[in-house]
Amino acid sequence: MRTWMINTAITFDGKISVPGKRTEISDEIDWRKVHNIRNNAAAVIIGSETALIDNPSLLTKSRYIDGEVNHPVRVILDRRGRCSETSKIFQFQDKSPTIWINNSDNRMDGINILQANSISEMKEVINEELDMMNIDPDKIVLIEGGSKVITSAINEKIVDKIRIFRSPMILPDGYPLFSYKLKNKLKLIKVDKLGIGSEEFYKIV
Ligand SMILES: NC(=O)c1ccc[n+]([C@@H]2O[C@H](COP(=O)([O-])OP(=O)(O)OC[C@H]3O[C@@H](n4cnc5c(N)ncnc54)[C@H](OP(=O)(O)O)[C@@H]3O)[C@@H](O)[C@H]2O)c1
Repeated sequence: MRTWMINTAITFDGKISVPGKRTEISDEIDWRKVHNIRNNAAAVIIGSETALIDNPSLLTKSRYIDGEVNHPVRVILDRRGRCSETSKIFQFQDKSPTIWINNSDNRMDGINILQANSISEMKEVINEELDMMNIDPDKIVLIEGGSKVITSAINEKIVDKIRIFRSPMILPDGYPLFSYKLKNKLKLIKVDKLGIGSEEFYKIV
């Protein structure tokens, strides 16, 4: 069974961004770590708000990688099909394919669309698709955000572990990591100093 992991960056006071704005929380040392994790990952997943606000390509940046560069399969959770060709996640198909979880009638040339409602169903269809694509089952699946997707992933216990980079920055009016109440508790497994902050690993109990 594939390992699924949340991988996110937060401020000291538990925020993931300025509301509605792409916000730099990681330092270069964390970015190097994030891209090395992506380089060995089967897939990386984001919610539609993150695609609309941050517009990441989710590719692995070669400047952080010492050896061969591998790009994960990119997945966007967008049941209402609100994203369009302007989202970078749909570009660079020559480097890595995109799976669009989209229950609407919107279509895009060359993009693989799957349908699912709950996050558990999404996990099932994504795992099946990665198996059909013959992606190494030992490779990890990453959920990189945002808050709504991370909260539902923890509430439905679909992840095996959680990696958090915590920066010493504070954002009093920032957008919190958890957008609604957590149903489950987290247990801290490991913490290390990393760059200007710390790298924390948790599991759901
Ligand atoms: N610090 C970090 O590491 C980091 C990383 C990523 C993002 N961010 C920040 O996070 C913010 C966006 O977060 P967000 O919470 O507003 O949105 P989000 O989690 O990125 O996306 C939410 C959308 O995902 C879709 N979705 C599909 N399945 C879902 C499910 N099971 N549970 C919840 N949502 C599901 C929903 O749209 P449908 O109903 O249409 O499917 C929902 O509106 C941005 O400001 C971004 O900058 C920070």
